[in-house]
Amino acid sequence: MIKAVRGTRDLLPPETALWNFVEAAVRDVFRAYNFQEIRTPIFEETALFARGVGEETDIVSKEMFTWQDGERFNENKITDEWLRANQSDDPQHVQAGRVNVQGNPSFLTKLKELGVQLQVWRGIRVQPNLLTGHVEFVAFRSRIAPDGIAALTKARDLAKSHYAQDFGNHAILLRLVVPDEAAKSSPWVDTEDVKIEGFAGNYFSSSQSLTLRPENTAGVVRAYIQHDLQKNGLNKLYYIGPQFRRERPQKGRYRQFYQIGAEVIGPASAGSESPARDAEVLEMLATLLDRLGITDWNLELNSVGTPADRAKFNEALRAALDPVKEKMCDDCQRRAVTNPLRVFDCKVPEDQPIIETLPRITQFLGEDSRKHFEAVQDILTKVGVRFSLNDRLVRGLDYYTRTAFEFTHGALGAQNAILGGGRYDGLSEALGGPAAPGIGFAIGEDRLVMSLKETAEGVLRKPDVYVAPMAGMNAEAARLARELRRHDLVIELGDDGFRLKKSFEAATKAGAKYILIVGENEVKADAFALKNLATGEQISVPRAELAHYFLELIERVRESTPTSRAKNGRENGAPGQG
Ligand code: HAM
Repeated sequence: MIKAVRGTRDLLPPETALWNFVEAAVRDVFRAYNFQEIRTPIFEETALFARGVGEETDIVSKEMFTWQDGERFNENKITDEWLRANQSDDPQHVQAGRVNVQGNPSFLTKLKELGVQLQVWRGIRVQPNLLTGHVEFVAFRSRIAPDGIAALTKARDLAKSHYAQDFGNHAILLRLVVPDEAAKSSPWVDTEDVKIEGFAGNYFSSSQSLTLRPENTAGVVRAYIQHDLQKNGLNKLYYIGPQFRRERPQKGRYRQFYQIGAEVIGPASAGSESPARDAEVLEMLATLLDRLGITDWNLELNSVGTPADRAKFNEALRAALDPVKEKMCDDCQRRAVTNPLRVFDCKVPEDQPIIETLPRITQFLGEDSRKHFEAVQDILTKVGVRFSLNDRLVRGLDYYTRTAFEFTHGALGAQNAILGGGRYDGLSEALGGPAAPGIGFAIGEDRLVMSLKETAEGVLRKPDVYVAPMAGMNAEAARLARELRRHDLVIELGDDGFRLKKSFEAATKAGAKYILIVGENEVKADAFALKNLATGEQISVPRAELAHYFLELIERVRESTPTSRAKNGRENGAPGQG
């Protein structure tokens, strides 16, 4: 049996309803804060992540799914150049070209399907419609292989049998053209049938290193630069989608996982650098989690300073690490030299006591960084978003500057970071773009859904009604189901091959609230037997009143579900804030 690859998983119903609920809720929140959606490709050039996220990070150095995208044979280029080289200047000669057989366009289509690109006349026009000479079929391939030869012989057979008039008087030659290099390295030689020609030139476009995106910030900034989004001023963008990291899979950690993220980016003149943006993003996150009914989160906040602050910090770290690095893990020994800040990413328990003694970035913040950080904290306090300072928090990606943060959640266990983010004021420039300060975050959607599960009951919408047709009543039942579904009711439709007992079992299994029986008598009376599966109560309801009847009942049920309560709670002043 072929199974999903380790670290990947299928999301199945009913859990997918939870994912949809989360995504609908976050889209609502993003709308309220005037964020708009961006979708970038799932793979990018490897260099984007190496330069954006940083060579020394765990993500880039160990966890990326990278491959060399194979060389591409440029068939059009070799065809064009060969044609140009084979063009005759003599008007007496019929020129080589992508010639159609007069009146037989389908023949050309067949040639194309075979992968025979050209049909070339080489000869002399003796009268307007009469040629002497020969016809050639020409196929272009990256190398000499049986498929090219077979295509050519097939083309000739086709021409001979179907178009005897056109080809009868002419010799038909076959020619397989490959790049010179490929011809030289091949054991194949001309056969009686097929002339093999090596044609000089480079017809391969070079290969590229590509990577499945391990995160989406670098892709968004790449798109910002590529589409000159600075013309819009401040861009407030969000994304929802899969990311890929080759990490050791465990609960809450997958190789394909999903992020819900957002980025605020633009020229400094549009206010992108203001601490008000940092605070707004963090306040939005608090609102979002509260709205989803997740209240026991903890916001950990730090400032990782400007590159200038960090240069001083790195120097101090190197000095502090120098006498002790020998005692640390191999990764840390390397990091101590190349990128000492990354020592804080170390998870090796034996290294932790040493890391505890290292200097902290907070001691190295310049005046500007300190003021910026204080301003962020000040707004958060005033709007009532609680946070705690964590001066060890440096985040595992190199692009961060100044504000850095994580939200953790108790119920998640070891992988307790539900989301992370921060400022990346120099990222655009590092990728060759204009200065474009920015701040953003990404929520681990897998983890978010995990922490939501307890409160999930009300999200999973079961069928409101199971419509059960009696013998011969499939069409009548379908008509009725169609009417009810138009009223936004969730309807499960049975089958008239089921006996009544089986219909009841199916309705119960589907979790339907009601079963509606469609028998001959009901159709005649235009009123249907309706049974409440929980209470057993049964009544007859006229067709015209059915939808109205259900909607009223369902509204009453909805008002008492946990999600609607969470929503109402938020609107009346969010719990969990302040
Ligand atoms: P990150 O901290 O690498 O940041 O990832 C953000 C969140 O994605 C984590 O807090 C976690 O919830 C989730 N996550 C990461 N790896 C996995 C995994 N293997 N399995 C399940 N969930 C995972 C970033 O990716 C930055 N791009 C965030 C950002 C946006 N910073 C600024 N803008």
